[in-house]
Amino acid sequence: MTKNGGMNVFDLTSKIIADIPEGQRFSEKDAELLMRFKSQLLAMEEDLVKGFYDTIEANPQMANLIGHGAREEREKTLRRWWQRTLSGPFDDQYWAWQSLVGVVHIKVGVKNPMMMGMWTWVISWLRTQITPEFVGSKALADEIMVTVERLSLTAQAITAESYLAYYLETVIRITGFRPALLERMFRSEIDVLVGEVRGQLGSI
Ligand code: HEM
Repeated sequence: MTKNGGMNVFDLTSKIIADIPEGQRFSEKDAELLMRFKSQLLAMEEDLVKGFYDTIEANPQMANLIGHGAREEREKTLRRWWQRTLSGPFDDQYWAWQSLVGVVHIKVGVKNPMMMGMWTWVISWLRTQITPEFVGSKALADEIMVTVERLSLTAQAITAESYLAYYLETVIRITGFRPALLERMFRSEIDVLVGEVRGQLGSI
């Protein structure tokens, strides 16, 4: 992070990805597998988008955030996201876009738990579609689902961590604090906070 010139989104996303344990992060092999099933997955777009927004609309807290009459617009962005995801490549630009997706949502009041909840919806729904009958064997269906889970984890890590990074960047800009100073202040305060939280928790 820098005070002037800001934070570079490509540096941020590659750092976040590097922090995900290697076996759990989306890999080249995952990308290859998804590309093999690209056309079948792309064909799910219509049902995926419908189910996704039916779920959001059925939840008043989330429905309020998409705004009345805005469903069509929102569906377009999700379609674009699905198409871009499955068209590949999973390059720096794609992951940096997931960081932007995170920040865009936070700006409009979509909280991380909502993003994570909808990711879980996507995974659960895909599990009903990517069946052994559909792809030819149980082993392959399981393998594809693990790949989709790694995609989900990688995107969610970027969303959540970008929230924190951009929040801090905003604090740095507003206060004019240097990142090193903020880090020192954080170090001295975090122990106090941990003590307070332990106190609130009581015995467990
Ligand atoms: C798996 C979770 C989600 C994915 C992958 C996703 C994807 C996207 C994408 C790709 C965009 C456009 C970003 C851009 O400008 O390039 C977007 C925008 C938006 N999404 Fe989502 N979304 C998710 C969850 C949600 C939820 C849970 C809500 C509401 C409750 C929501 C509401 C919105 C709104 C309102 C915008 C427009 C923001 C703006 O430009 O003002 N999204 N989403």
